[in-house]
Amino acid sequence: MGINRVIYGIRETVVKDCIPIFLLRNEPVVRDNSISTNRINEAEHTRWFTGALSNAAFQFYTIVDEAGGFSGYIRYNAIKATAIVSLALIRECRGKGVAKNLLNVSLKRIKNKLDIMSVTAVVRIDNIASCKLFLSCGFHFSLSKKISGIQYNEYVYAFK
Ligand SMILES: CC(C)(COP(=O)(O)OP(=O)(O)OC[C@H]1O[C@@H](n2cnc3c(N)ncnc32)[C@H](O)[C@@H]1OP(=O)(O)O)[C@@H](O)C(=O)NCCC(=O)NCCS
Repeated sequence: MGINRVIYGIRETVVKDCIPIFLLRNEPVVRDNSISTNRINEAEHTRWFTGALSNAAFQFYTIVDEAGGFSGYIRYNAIKATAIVSLALIRECRGKGVAKNLLNVSLKRIKNKLDIMSVTAVVRIDNIASCKLFLSCGFHFSLSKKISGIQYNEYVYAFK
């Protein structure tokens, strides 16, 4: 422990992140943990990604390691007074507790960027790591609902 610990950070997402984000979004475990579980095609992703980058309702962060290597994303999509958050780490970074600090940093940054009162996370109830992550960052359980036969918990983070 300790000497091989990699430090991760976040930066604003840019055009060159399009394909790494596409590949990560299409990983089976990431699709399974999304609300729409269908595979995404590259043209559809590129169109959506380009639109999202220039849309003020989206705030997109890329997770990078010390060498600047792509390590994941955190995305906020403002809808009225809340923003839906979505995040994923590349496989090698999961299970090491790194998402907590990155999510906290991103929450501080979006507060001044989006005109919102809260952030909402919709998480499959069997995605224990994600449920625990949001609770550990100050989100509160709001409700549980079924979407296309799958049970999800909704967690809400309220800005003070
Ligand atoms: C979800 C995700 C971002 C979590 O990030 P992470 O840094 O890997 O989180 P960890 O695996 O360290 O787990 C977070 C917490 O859950 C706990 N946990 C993880 N798996 C667990 C399990 N099976 N049972 C009980 N606790 C578990 C960890 O011990 C940790 O708890 P702690 O904060 O008390 O130490 C990451 O796993 C990921 O990218 N997954 C794929 C995409 C995804 O599911 N995105 C979320 C969609 S809502």
